[in-house]
Amino acid sequence: MSHFTDEIKKRRTFAIISHPDAGKTTLTEKFLLYGGAINQAGSVKGKATAKHAVSDWMEIEKERGISVTSSVLQFNYDGYCINILDTPGHQDFSEDTYRTLMAADSAVMVIDASKGVEAQTRKLFKVCVMRHIPIFTFINKMDREALDTFELLDDIEKELGIATCPINWPIGCGKEFRGVFDREHREIEFFSETHKGTAMGEVRKIALDDPEVGTLISAEQKAQLNDEIELLDGASAEFDLALVSKGELSPVFFGSALTNFGVETFLQHFLQMTSSPLPRMSNLGSIDPMKEKDFSAFVFKIQANMNKAHRDRIAFMRICSGEFEAGMDVFHIQGGKKVRLSQPQQMMASERKMIEKAYAGDVIGIFDPGIFSIGDTLTTSPDKFAYEGIPTFAPEHFARVRQMDTMKRKQFVKGINQIAQEGAIQIFQEYNTGMEEIIVGVVGVLQFDVLKYRLENEYNVEIKLESLPYEHIRWIENEDIDLDKLVGTSDMKKIKDLKERPLLLFVNSWSVRMTEERNEGLILSEFGRS
Ligand code: G4P
Repeated sequence: MSHFTDEIKKRRTFAIISHPDAGKTTLTEKFLLYGGAINQAGSVKGKATAKHAVSDWMEIEKERGISVTSSVLQFNYDGYCINILDTPGHQDFSEDTYRTLMAADSAVMVIDASKGVEAQTRKLFKVCVMRHIPIFTFINKMDREALDTFELLDDIEKELGIATCPINWPIGCGKEFRGVFDREHREIEFFSETHKGTAMGEVRKIALDDPEVGTLISAEQKAQLNDEIELLDGASAEFDLALVSKGELSPVFFGSALTNFGVETFLQHFLQMTSSPLPRMSNLGSIDPMKEKDFSAFVFKIQANMNKAHRDRIAFMRICSGEFEAGMDVFHIQGGKKVRLSQPQQMMASERKMIEKAYAGDVIGIFDPGIFSIGDTLTTSPDKFAYEGIPTFAPEHFARVRQMDTMKRKQFVKGINQIAQEGAIQIFQEYNTGMEEIIVGVVGVLQFDVLKYRLENEYNVEIKLESLPYEHIRWIENEDIDLDKLVGTSDMKKIKDLKERPLLLFVNSWSVRMTEERNEGLILSEFGRS
C-alpha cells in the first residue's frame, strides 16, 4: 500500500454535538490532553468575558496558549490522526453548524446526565440521521446528581428514535458516584477525583467478582448494580458494529469530563468502533479514498473576514481522496476552471499556519477570491466528478428586509446576494413583489445582526429588519404543482427561493401537518436541494 493510504487509514474525522453547557468544550479539552496537544488540564474559564461569536476552540486557545484552528482541531493519539470539527452550538448557532456535520464521518453526542436530550442536540442529531453516520453518546456530569440511567437511555431512544447500547454502566451518581462497570470485560473502573489535573490518571480496574469490590462500594450499590446488569444483559440491544456504522445504534458511555473520568476509555472505544474516511457519492458514483489516488475535496463552509482591512474569504474544504500539496493546481468543477491552491492555511485565532500536506479526512482553508460556493468540488482527477450537493437547512427565524436608501439598490442586491452565497443567510421572495422586498431566513438569530453589520460596513447600505412570526419552512418537492389549488392554513405564506422553487412558511408545526393532510400527494421537505 502506498504512503497516502497509510495516512488516510489513521484519520478519524468527527464532530461533537451537544446543547450548550453539556460539556463539549471540557470533553474536547480532555481529548487534547490525551493527544499531548496540551499538558495541563483545568476547566476552560473566561466564558463571561468571551465575545459570543468566538468559538470554543478560541477559548481553549486563549486559556491554554495553544494554537488551534477555528474550524478544525487536529491531534494525534495512539497512532491515529484525529480531526475534531467545530460545531458552534452557542449563540452563534447557524447553518454552518449543520454544514459542518456534512464534513464529519461520525458524531459524538454529549448529554448532560441531569438533563437528558435537549433542544440543540435534537436539531443537530437530525442531520446525523439524514446522513446515516455513526453517533456515539457520552453521558456527562455523572459526578453530579443525574437522572435515572434507564430513563436517560429511554429518553434518547424515544426523543431521537435511535437504539442505544451501553458499553459501560454507571455506579451511582453525584456524591455517590463510584465509577463505571465495563460490560465487555466485566470489571469496574473506579472513579477518583485525582484524574482531574493529570494527563492519564490512574484508572483502577477490578473484576466484578473480586471480593475487594465489596470494600469499595456499598452493599446496596453492589446489589443494585447486579440487578441492573441482569436487566441490561436481558433487555438492551446487543452491540452490533454494522448497526453502529449505519447510525442505527448508538454506543453509550458514562463519565465526567470535568474530573477526566471515563474520557480515555471512551476515546479508545470510539477509535476502534469508527472507520477511516469512507467513500462519498459523486455524480459518477462512489469515490473511495482507498482507491482514488487523485485529490478531491468539497467546500462546506465559507468564512468572510469580519475585519474590513482584510476583505478576504476563506473556503473550508474537506478532503475526500488523495493527497493535498501546497500550491497544487486543481480543477474547480462548478467554476469550470483550473485553480491553484496556493495559500492553504489552517486558521488560527491569532495567526494562520500554512500547511504543506494534507490527506483525505483533513480540512483545509483556502483563500477564496469570491469564486467558490458551498458544495463545490475541487479535484485533480481527469474524470472531473462532482460530489453530491450539500442540502440547504431549514431556517427557523424570518424577517422582511427593507432597504432605507433606494438609490443604493445595486449595492443592496449585490451585498445580500453575496452574503447569501456564503450561506450565512437564505433569501426568499414573495410572489407578487420584486427584489425590493426580500425575506431573509436564518438558523440562528445572531445572523440577523451579522447581516445588518456587514451590509452597513462592507456595502454601505442601511437596512431595517422587521421580524416575521414564521418558524417553519417547507420546500415543495412536487415537480408540477398548481399553487393556487393548494389548500393551506390561515397562517401559511407562499414564497419562492432564488431558484424560483416554491416554499411554504408556517407559524406552527400543527399547520404543516394540516396542510399535508389537506392536500393529497403533496410532498414537503425540511431540506432544500442545493
Ligand atoms: P459546552 O462547551 O458544551 O457549552 O460546555 P462546557 O464544557 O463549557 O461546560 C459547561 C459547564 O459544565 C462548565 O462549568 C464546566 O466546567 C461544567 N462541566 C463540564 N463537564 C462537567 C462534568 O463532568 N461535571 C461537572 N460537575 N461539571 C462539568 P461552568 O461553571 O460554566 O464553567 P467553569 O467556571 O467551570 O469553567
